[in-house]
Amino acid sequence: MKKIYLYGNWKMNMTRAETEGFYKDFAEQVTGSPLAAAMGKTLEAAVFPPFTSLGTAASAAKSLASCPAPILGAQNVYFEPKGAFTGEVSIAMLKDVGCTHVILGHSERRTIFGETDEFIARKVKAALDAGLVPVFCYGETLTEREGNAAFDVVSRQLRALSALSPAELEKIIYAYEPVWAIGTGKSATSAEAQEVCAYSKKLTGEMGASSAAVLYGGSVKPDNAKELLSMDAIDGALVGGASLKADTFLQIYKGYAGI
Ligand code: PGA
Repeated sequence: MKKIYLYGNWKMNMTRAETEGFYKDFAEQVTGSPLAAAMGKTLEAAVFPPFTSLGTAASAAKSLASCPAPILGAQNVYFEPKGAFTGEVSIAMLKDVGCTHVILGHSERRTIFGETDEFIARKVKAALDAGLVPVFCYGETLTEREGNAAFDVVSRQLRALSALSPAELEKIIYAYEPVWAIGTGKSATSAEAQEVCAYSKKLTGEMGASSAAVLYGGSVKPDNAKELLSMDAIDGALVGGASLKADTFLQIYKGYAGI
């Protein structure tokens, strides 16, 4: 069975108390179940809490005793190392709190906060330089898809990383998230997702990467996960809404693996 990346993007949700509750439920779900054996092998679970809950998540992970903890990542970072950047958080700060991963280029950052391809590429490079794994998000809007521009947009967003070396490109986790599928309840079909994920692998290959893990994101839930995760170009899921409860989050993998 292929390894499945199950990544939970909590967005602007989950207080510290809710974060503790998630870890408690996570441990209850995993301990003594086939999930425990899968964790770190056929299941790579990660959560991306808001900045204010990262410390709590790191402490909760340590207190899980015999239960393997999910990987910890943040939802954004700034590329400058320190200084007068009000409201921003540095890579060193994320590492200090225990993060190994960081989501970059999410469509909400691109559209609501105006982040450009170039700006995101600088963050990706800085994260890689510091040994953080970037979870690089990209994907077209509905207008772009309807205008038959989905592949052009995805190509432009991925090619913004073309200054990176093959080894750097291989360290990135790619997350194809069509904007029209995010938080709308309307997932891409497995064929649509497969098509763009396969294209992404081809493109990163042309850019020099010999392999690339490509996740699909956008309204992934337990009831559509199996079909999406069974597609050969899809290595996992970046899950928003359905990642806020450990039970639902883990069901996405359980349904796929038949456990
Ligand atoms: P969603 O969000 O699962 O709630 O659609 C996915 C994402 O934005 O990463």
